[in-house]
Amino acid sequence: MTGKIIGTGACVPDKVVSNDDLSKIVDTNDEWIRERTGIVRRHIISGEETTVTLAAEAGKRALNMGGIAAKELDMILLSSISSNVILPCTACAVQRLIGAVNAVCYDLNAACSGFVFAYNAAQAHIMSGMCNTVLVIGADCLSDLTNWKDRSSCILFGDGAGAVVLQAAEGVPFAFAMHSDGQRGGSITCQSRNQNNCPPLEETYMKMDGKEIFKFASTKVPAVLHELLEKVSMKPEEIDAYFLHQANGRIIEIIAKKMGLDLSKFPMNVAEYANTSSGTIPILLDEVNRKGNILKGQKLIMCSFGAGLSWGAAYLEWQ
Ligand code: COA
Repeated sequence: MTGKIIGTGACVPDKVVSNDDLSKIVDTNDEWIRERTGIVRRHIISGEETTVTLAAEAGKRALNMGGIAAKELDMILLSSISSNVILPCTACAVQRLIGAVNAVCYDLNAACSGFVFAYNAAQAHIMSGMCNTVLVIGADCLSDLTNWKDRSSCILFGDGAGAVVLQAAEGVPFAFAMHSDGQRGGSITCQSRNQNNCPPLEETYMKMDGKEIFKFASTKVPAVLHELLEKVSMKPEEIDAYFLHQANGRIIEIIAKKMGLDLSKFPMNVAEYANTSSGTIPILLDEVNRKGNILKGQKLIMCSFGAGLSWGAAYLEWQ
């Protein structure tokens, strides 16, 4: 048995922050941001919204689409680096909000690779027989970790959550490839605010070597896609759609070119939401799915990269 996606869901904050809005707080402009990243706006939490509330709503929407009750879940696996809660874990906080009384819940931190890693971990739980029905959530509110004075990074991020429900089924193809390289971890860092020596405030915001990450993503993503394609004995053009981490439209364009594929095989919504870390792939999947643009039998790959450094991919067929 492997996991079949029976529902998708997403939830993004109501408040929209445009590139023009950002140009009022840092020395930047709409044209520069669009050209270098493809980003036009991002959604940022306000009022009562938190990582937990977005995650719970995304989860509920996925459950509704799947037509199952929260109590049928036997696991909630949630990927986040930016939750409003440390204890209980975000997955348990979501469990409480949605009433998933029979689920075992835990969080996973693999930064922007988190959703793909969590999806693959959920598949492993199902394949081992440990679980039958798993809610996998990617939820991040990076606005809290963003240095709003750093124009080279603050333009890139947004808040949001997405989810899928996986249910054990026969004959659902699944394959994966995942990697981590802690030696290169210095390219994106963020220190905990909970150290007893109280790090300087700037160290507790995300710091990033943008050029290094750009190079890393545009080499490692094609490599891991080829690795996965080899595992499933397929050629790049046999895949119907590549759901890539939405960090930067230019990175996706370069990857498409390196794979020798038309950009139309790479759905994108980075213009609307920017980089929501663990949220990007499930938000995009849900958006495309709700438009009815994923058809039964289509072959899909999800692929992400991020801090760690980490990168990984999953192959699935839509059922
Ligand atoms: N607005 C206007 N100018 C800006 C700017 C901004 N927001 N940010 C940087 N600049 C300036 C720089 O200061 C530099 O000026 P200089 O030439 O006078 O020194 C110039 O623009 C070029 O900067 P550079 O850093 O070379 O731009 P770039 O083409 O590499 O683009 C990123 C910068 C951050 C957009 C790009 O490197 C990137 O997207 N990297 C990947 C980041 C990422 O995805 N991280 C998350 C991974 S999960």
